[in-house]
Amino acid sequence: MNELQIAIDGPASAGKSTIAKILATDLKYVYVDTGAMYRAITFAVLTQNVNPKDEVAVSAMVPELEISFAPGNPVQKVFLNRQEITTEIRSVEVTANVSLISSYAVVRTAMTALQRKIAADGGVVMDGRDIGTTVLPAAQVKIFLIASVHERALRRYKENQAKGMPESLAEIEEAVQKRDHLDSTRQISPLKKAVDAIEVDTTGLSIPEVVHVIKEIIHQQQ
Ligand code: C5P
Repeated sequence: MNELQIAIDGPASAGKSTIAKILATDLKYVYVDTGAMYRAITFAVLTQNVNPKDEVAVSAMVPELEISFAPGNPVQKVFLNRQEITTEIRSVEVTANVSLISSYAVVRTAMTALQRKIAADGGVVMDGRDIGTTVLPAAQVKIFLIASVHERALRRYKENQAKGMPESLAEIEEAVQKRDHLDSTRQISPLKKAVDAIEVDTTGLSIPEVVHVIKEIIHQQQ
């Protein structure tokens, strides 16, 4: 079996990471969470007291930032300059600023290069917003995962409740919509379905059902 590049894109909280992780485990592929990379940079900006709106200052930080991953359960561990920031990158503050930071050209160029390097030999499931369109345009499998805004917000709400995060459903729904708008209207590599991607609507589907649908799609590529 050839080692494929599998791209999973879609809006916030569409279930990309959950599905991508299961697929990677089952296929014995590497899972790459590209959103975590943009979150790591955002975390660095906020903790170093750089103004997120100052593109020049944010861009100047990028060469100094080393992002790495390590296996972890239930989530992959994320490190910034060897310091673990797995939990910190999921904060409300990072989430509220990540779309702005990820719209900057210097940030995107550096992350795209890193992502291509990791995926060069195939055997990867990479989730994000621009994997099928920009990062891996030759990926053999491209999935565009969507779900209604309400369902996505509800899933995030339940996850947050379990972690003791106090945001209300209405606040989450608003934040999800705002992030989708920023991500899909930015100038560089906006969130967009690649012309050759297959759209999978996960509204009302269970996780095993979505995994099954995508495995069928992968099977057809082999
Ligand atoms: O996937 P996640 O919700 O963690 O991504 C956080 C943010 O990172 C997105 O809202 C988007 O602004 C940015 N992102 C991106 N390109 C990617 C992955 C994420 O711009 N490939």
